Amino acid sequence: MTRPEPTDVEHEVKSVDLIVSKSDEAGNITYVNPIFIKISGYTQASLLEKPHAILRHPDMPKVIFKYLWKNIKEGNDVVAYVKNLCADGGYYWVLATVKMAKNPDGSFRNYMSTRRCITKRAKDIIIVLYLKLLDIEKKEGEEASEAIFERFLSENGITDSNSFNEYMKNLNK
Ligand SMILES: Cc1cc2nc3c(=O)[nH]c(=O)nc-3n(C[C@H](O)[C@H](O)[C@H](O)COP(=O)(O)O)c2cc1C
Repeated sequence: MTRPEPTDVEHEVKSVDLIVSKSDEAGNITYVNPIFIKISGYTQASLLEKPHAILRHPDMPKVIFKYLWKNIKEGNDVVAYVKNLCADGGYYWVLATVKMAKNPDGSFRNYMSTRRCITKRAKDIIIVLYLKLLDIEKKEGEEASEAIFERFLSENGITDSNSFNEYMKNLNK
């Protein structure tokens, strides 16, 4: 599948929309709900068994996904802002909650993401942070971008995944 050329067209996520997907351990999509299909602009068949990175927008800094994977693999839920790319090149912003679900015997069942709309306040703050992380990533590399991310966490009193998630949820109020 050829990746769409990103445009400046934003797709609206309404306050009632709950965009859901599930994946296997590698992040390959195993389930999408109807609103996921509608907003992304892809057919269900073209999404299933594909990596979630099909939605990856070039404006997203790598460090955010690194943080996401480190935590969900450890079984920690992650609440994070994500700008996603649509099939037509447009984009949409969401606050995603990503978590691991386990079987009754404790083995891995799937990863699940639920995504909701974000407020203007959250968007304004996150756009500035992500632009900075991406700029440093491009100019100085991933390690330098991670150092900026770590500084952002400590400046905001974020010491673990719980305080990270609380901070992100509070921004969206
Ligand atoms: C359940 C789940 C949902 C995900 N949802 C998204 C998403 O909506 N958008 C996105 O860009 N990445 C999402 N990811 C992260 C991707 O797996 C991937 O790490 C990311 O797109 C960056 O791509 P890359 O690792 O190939 O650079 C999700 C991962 C999981 C496990």
